[in-house]
Amino acid sequence: MSIKTTIIVAMAQNRVIGKEGTLPWHIPADLKRYKARTLGKPLVMGRKTIDSLYEEVGGPLPGRTNIIVTRQSDYVAGDGVIVESDLKTAMDRAMSVAKRDGVDEVFVNGGAQIYAQALEMGFVSDLDMTLIHDNVDGDTQFPKVNWDDWREVWREDHEAEGGKPAFSFIQYTKI
Ligand SMILES: NC(=O)c1ccc[n+]([C@@H]2O[C@H](COP(=O)([O-])OP(=O)(O)OC[C@H]3O[C@@H](n4cnc5c(N)ncnc54)[C@H](OP(=O)(O)O)[C@@H]3O)[C@@H](O)[C@H]2O)c1
Repeated sequence: MSIKTTIIVAMAQNRVIGKEGTLPWHIPADLKRYKARTLGKPLVMGRKTIDSLYEEVGGPLPGRTNIIVTRQSDYVAGDGVIVESDLKTAMDRAMSVAKRDGVDEVFVNGGAQIYAQALEMGFVSDLDMTLIHDNVDGDTQFPKVNWDDWREVWREDHEAEGGKPAFSFIQYTKI
């Protein structure tokens, strides 16, 4: 079975993905889809992103193997979190977990530093993006991507509603 390596990200039109260590928006439909997409599959993320999960949901994401990277040799992780000191080892670990669990996908779960390095190192085969059709104030941005390298394979558009901006779920695969 081949295993896809998918970036999963929600970003605004101006590539903003975070503000002050957290998500700058609350879009329940996106959180619901994110859960459905990632459940049962390993997630690789930076230390700052797991910190944000402790703030937002009280800990690592349940029902998924949470693998984090940090350069702190004395970092103490919470229960159920796997810690690695470099991204390559973390990605290899995610692949082993996927094989063990019989799933066909691992996720690069952010934040900006991890997305940028995973793209640069050529780890990523697919991109699953929630694009918010608005410019949002924030301090962390998704890296610039050469869209000529990516082909859109699926899309679902959602109109603005109840004060929430319009957004689209878009899946890309690397050409
Ligand atoms: N919108 C979205 O879909 C989305 C998704 C995820 C995150 N976010 C947001 O993005 C923000 C966090 O992103 P960020 O870029 O600031 O941080 P990040 O990528 O989550 O984490 C950065 C940290 O990861 C560790 N790290 C980075 N590269 C490493 C490497 N090569 N080897 C070992 N460790 C490495 C370092 O931890 P140490 O400092 O401990 O060494 C570094 O400080 C938050 O606002 C979060 O809410 C948004």
